Amino acid sequence: MRTINGLSVYTYGTEDKQPVVFIHGFPFDNTMWKNQTEKLQETHYVITIDIRGFGKSETGDGQYTMEMFADDLNDVIIALSLNKPVICGLSMGGYIALRYAEKYDNYSALILADTKSQSDPDPAKLNRAAGIKTINEDGPSLYVSNFIPNTLAKKNKTNEDILTPLMIEAKKVPAVSLKGALLAMAGRTDTTEYLKTVNKPVMFICGEEDAFTPPDLMKELSEITKGSRFEVVKDAGHLPPIENPANFNLLLVDFLSGLE
Ligand code: MLT
Repeated sequence: MRTINGLSVYTYGTEDKQPVVFIHGFPFDNTMWKNQTEKLQETHYVITIDIRGFGKSETGDGQYTMEMFADDLNDVIIALSLNKPVICGLSMGGYIALRYAEKYDNYSALILADTKSQSDPDPAKLNRAAGIKTINEDGPSLYVSNFIPNTLAKKNKTNEDILTPLMIEAKKVPAVSLKGALLAMAGRTDTTEYLKTVNKPVMFICGEEDAFTPPDLMKELSEITKGSRFEVVKDAGHLPPIENPANFNLLLVDFLSGLE
């Protein structure tokens, strides 16, 4: 692990290989990519990052914006001298990946998992506000306990092997980080027009039972993104890299090998 601008950054494999940067979702950290780092480090230079406020990265004052997260990603990519990495982001990680791609363009391909380009409509903004109220009134632990089961497919909601590690890590996240990320997501820009202009390889992956960004929504994004690929992962909700790592990894390996 190394620290770059207060961010914890983890690298696997050797720098001579094609770099692939993974960006986690809310309210998780780099450990959500464990199955992917194990699989890919033989063939790729794999980088995972704890987003500011999460995992072992600095919390700071919790006043985050999506712009700051995208700039953080750029700082890491520059500090590691990565030339046109593949960027893989899940959910909030996808929001960051898309804004980074739009702003900096230093990437060779995108893998967008369980995410979307649209900014928050009013009901989603109100939902973020309700989340912040719960964190303030009932504490972050209750908020996380209510939130995490919603991210999983029905059959995984009671699977302790999946649920317990997610709960343990997410319950370590300070309240200010949770609230800061909720506000950053509520205030993010819309990257849909950018997606329509992308002319690099893009793969959209969605868990079959994703309640946050359902397959129909992600399929539409794929339809507006020239030459992109759209894949659905069975037995998974919002977190296919964790819920069905075997299928998710097959897709990753297939997509990445097609880039060479
Ligand atoms: C995530 O998984 O990163 C979040 O659920 C995304 C969101 O709340 O919009």
